[in-house]
Amino acid sequence: MHFRRRNRAATLVAQVVNLPARAKHRCDMTQPIRLSPEQRDQLIAAACAIRDRAYTPYSHFKVGAALLADDGRVFTGVNVENASYGLTVCAERNAVGAMVIGGGQQVRAIAVCTDNGVTPCGACRQVLSEFVDHESDIPVWIIDGRGEVRETSLAALLPDSFGARHLT
Ligand code: THU
Repeated sequence: MHFRRRNRAATLVAQVVNLPARAKHRCDMTQPIRLSPEQRDQLIAAACAIRDRAYTPYSHFKVGAALLADDGRVFTGVNVENASYGLTVCAERNAVGAMVIGGGQQVRAIAVCTDNGVTPCGACRQVLSEFVDHESDIPVWIIDGRGEVRETSLAALLPDSFGARHLT
């Protein structure tokens, strides 16, 4: 999929339905926000440190997440499971909740630490997207149990996302 160069047909459709000829979207962004190496390391360390607090009597799959908020503060989360399995809340969403409770408004970056280095689930991608400006992208660091770090971004994980701007 090529979002950067809109083809002629798409431009004509946009004109007919009265859309901007080149709708701004996270996918148009080439680079996520850049953090300093210190900020990055701080987030990674926070995600890995908090992971042990995960409450996972059912899956035993512990997840730690740490996000950097727009005001520079770091908020962490772990997954909290429940005997009624569907009530489980993922680490990333608990970190977002902590940020909202703490008064943060936007997510600038997130690190997620698991044993096997998996990326956030679809629900968490959508929830993170709610707190990232749709014209921006953020780095997502994935850390595994050996401390291997891989970088991706929210736009890469959730392209062509749905958001508040579609409800007007
Ligand atoms: N989990 C997360 O915390 N984050 C994700 O992005 C994927 C899944 C948790 C939920 C559940 O406690 C366990 O991992 C297994 O699904």
